[in-house]
Amino acid sequence: MEVMDAIKGRRSIRRYKKKMIPENDLMGILEAARLAPTGANRQFWKMIVVLDDARKRALVPLCKSQKFIEDCSAFIAGVDDLSQKWNRVDLAIAFDHLSLAAHSKGLGTCWIGAFDPEKVAEYLDVPKGQVVTVCMTLGYPDEVPDARTRKPVEELFHWEKYGGRK
Ligand SMILES: Cc1cc2nc3c(=O)[nH]c(=O)nc-3n(C[C@H](O)[C@H](O)[C@H](O)COP(=O)(O)O)c2cc1C
Repeated sequence: MEVMDAIKGRRSIRRYKKKMIPENDLMGILEAARLAPTGANRQFWKMIVVLDDARKRALVPLCKSQKFIEDCSAFIAGVDDLSQKWNRVDLAIAFDHLSLAAHSKGLGTCWIGAFDPEKVAEYLDVPKGQVVTVCMTLGYPDEVPDARTRKPVEELFHWEKYGGRK
């Protein structure tokens, strides 16, 4: 799939078929995150991949009771090292790569920002000094959501200086 087609076709998926992802497919999707750029190529982020059903179920109350988390095939928690300046950016790039790779292989994702960072970190045994910044569900879509709207070009892009118009 062309990159632009993946960007245009991706949606947040909040209904999943209960299905395991074959190991090769999962590793192929994670590879897209591994290959993502990081500041000075430092690659400090970690992702914790939760596949076990009981563990995914246990994460639901820690993630503002977002029930669809228990139905996804993999819940992926992104872990930042707070000593690293670009870590939040690095992790966002990696997750975006992952979501586009997933879409290109017929899987869906949803970013999970609504969660209790301390409780999720404790549940996943994240060492002190590292934080869970953002998470993502991954699995086989059981819905075909409409595209959400985006702001118009003029509002997002300024030319030469802030407020500059073409
Ligand atoms: C940083 C971030 C955090 C998000 N957290 C959640 C979340 O906790 N639960 C959820 O259902 N969607 C979450 N979303 C998904 C957004 O609501 C969604 O991307 C947005 O509405 C645009 O829809 P689209 O992804 O289908 O284009 C999050 C997205 C981002 C980028």
